[in-house]
Amino acid sequence: MGAPVVRRLKPRVQVYPNLRAETAALARHIAAFARKCVRERGVFHFVLSGGRTPKALYRLLARRYRETFPWQATQVFFGDERCVTPSDPESNYAMARAALLSHVPIPLSQVHRLPGEVRPLSKAAASYASLIGPLPTRRGSASVRFDLVLLGLGSDGHLASLFPGASALRERRRTVVAVPHAGQPPYVPRLTLTVPALCSAREVCFLVSGEEKAAAVAASLGAPHAGDRRLPANLIRGVQATVWFLDRGAAVSLLRPSWTS
Ligand code: 6PG
Repeated sequence: MGAPVVRRLKPRVQVYPNLRAETAALARHIAAFARKCVRERGVFHFVLSGGRTPKALYRLLARRYRETFPWQATQVFFGDERCVTPSDPESNYAMARAALLSHVPIPLSQVHRLPGEVRPLSKAAASYASLIGPLPTRRGSASVRFDLVLLGLGSDGHLASLFPGASALRERRRTVVAVPHAGQPPYVPRLTLTVPALCSAREVCFLVSGEEKAAAVAASLGAPHAGDRRLPANLIRGVQATVWFLDRGAAVSLLRPSWTS
């Protein structure tokens, strides 16, 4: 008797007129989900994304949800980090701290940054993996470690620091690995959660904006590429839901009649 087949839930795609509407909808969604998780289990395990796109979302969460979001019961993690110091302008932690974490009442002890400054990289990855702990083993249902993982998408289709075709995409045992050579700027070594770690989330939410991402979005969501396992997004599914928040620019290829026919 083989392992139980865990249904691969199709991603839900939501297209908004612009980044402002997109981030407002995602902020509302995350806040409601966080409150639900805290009601049901007393905690919300939230994995933040890096890059530029989420800044507007983080600022909105800090401004509009400072009082109504369950920050005291939230544990924050990071999906990936550039291997620089935490105060470096390229640091994802520095960006999230400036846009969100220093403006909301989350205890610093509940913010778990990836130690990008630690060397060797293998030691940095192992220390974060031990912080996350082993993924719960599957017992008839997919294992859950995080409640919500937020991801962006690079114009090449990478997410976190998992680049198309990279060997890190094939990692199925470890939860955190070092990526010595980034496939897109900044060209610094990275630390990243792996596919099994990202897939151990109840929900995976993608936040993608801009026409320069349209081809990567279509390739990641498009039928012809659905089986293309070199594309990271084809490997990432939340246990309960995978939702793409797109603005019109990022969705332009999806909205073309050829794709929707
Ligand atoms: C990083 C991010 C990365 C990001 C994409 C999109 O460390 O750079 O985690 O995966 O989400 O590169 O970045 P932008 O939002 O800046 O386009």
